[in-house]
Amino acid sequence: MTIIGIDKMSFFSPHQYIDMVELANARGEEPNKYLIGIGQTEQAVIPSTQDVVTMAANAADEMLTASDRKKITMILFATESGIDNSKSGAVYLQRLLGINPYARTIELKQACYAGTFALMQARDYVTLHPDEKVLVVASDIARYGLQTSGEVTQGGGAVAMLVAANPMIAEINQDSQFLSRDIMDFWRPVYADTARVDGKYSSNVYQDFFKKVWTRYKSKTGRDIADFKALAFHLPFTKMGLKALRDVLPEATDEQQVVLMDEFEASRVYNKRIGNLYTGSLYLSLYSLLDNSQSLKAGDRIGMFSYGSGAEGEFYSLTLRPHFSAGLVTGQIDTLLANRQYVTIADYEKIFNNQLKGAADREFDFKGDPAKFVLHGLKNERRQYICN
Ligand code: HMG
Repeated sequence: MTIIGIDKMSFFSPHQYIDMVELANARGEEPNKYLIGIGQTEQAVIPSTQDVVTMAANAADEMLTASDRKKITMILFATESGIDNSKSGAVYLQRLLGINPYARTIELKQACYAGTFALMQARDYVTLHPDEKVLVVASDIARYGLQTSGEVTQGGGAVAMLVAANPMIAEINQDSQFLSRDIMDFWRPVYADTARVDGKYSSNVYQDFFKKVWTRYKSKTGRDIADFKALAFHLPFTKMGLKALRDVLPEATDEQQVVLMDEFEASRVYNKRIGNLYTGSLYLSLYSLLDNSQSLKAGDRIGMFSYGSGAEGEFYSLTLRPHFSAGLVTGQIDTLLANRQYVTIADYEKIFNNQLKGAADREFDFKGDPAKFVLHGLKNERRQYICN
């Protein structure tokens, strides 16, 4: 049977960041609360010249060859920070990236879960059409507001994944277990540009959903923790994944507990410095694991826990392919992080309040933004995208 899965992955986050010690000092909090209690060291700052479309385009562009662009017949755009209630972000991407015009383009939403749903749809589609490729992007800006308890868990960026037959990175196994329940732990009404959240409740529900889908996974598949080399989690903040991991660690032998903890540390290296990127967080964590693990090898099974508030949880597994590292853009995130510019908390607050809002024509100065795709402004209620 043909193997279907993630062929390539690429990541983008804007060129500016703040330091969590400085944010803690500015908010009158103990720095270790942010560094250890929350598990974040830096946070991406999203300039007015980037939105979910430009971030997705910047991520996908770095991994797509001319041949990929011809073979893509579907673009699935997962986001909860969409820029339009009608038109999908995927249509803009098709033009910006020069993708085959005979492709389907659609946007998907269920809080942070939509990227996983998109990936599963892509896998099923390519199973039926193994000569075609599907572009999945998960692009978001996590915004809670200045001086809120969620502020330390903000961030933003995009992960792009190409789903294809005989993939380079990993096979997506047909073993998903999922659960949905109508609850109000986190939501964003259409009139609001910041999330509403019941923070402690959301963390408890996350852990509860993880335990439920993990238990169901084990009973449906007959597998147990010994079958996994690593577990990757949706990381709204990296301590959240640690809490979930600790819930199941006692099921492993002492020796395997060390391995799972080591792999978890590898899986949160990048998320600690970017923050939450909602739909993309689990996939940035996967990227971090693949890039930073010292011991992963072909054939290893990785458990993936996806959680989207509101709420939906899914647990499934990936099996690593022989040359999985070749599916990542070499040195991409190290370069991105090394080139990022530090901003003060005062400047971050100005940037935070200078996002595109309302219907009036506006132009942004995009000279300082080194990204290839930037948002130039709004003209006649149309977003103006520029290829730098
Ligand atoms: P808070 O009330 O400011 O923090 O909000 P806290 O008082 O709970 O402290 C946080 C941790 O720091 C605690 O550890 C403290 O003990 C510890 P815990 O008990 O949780 O293990 N702490 C310290 N540790 C070391 N040294 C110190 C120190 N002081 C305290 N000196 C909260 C934290 C996460 C609730 C808040 O930031 C928030 O509401 N964030 C947004 C919501 C969120 O991320 N929820 C996660 C689950 S829901 C989800 O994942 C979905 C989501 O991604 C959205 C979507 O699906 O679209 C959010």
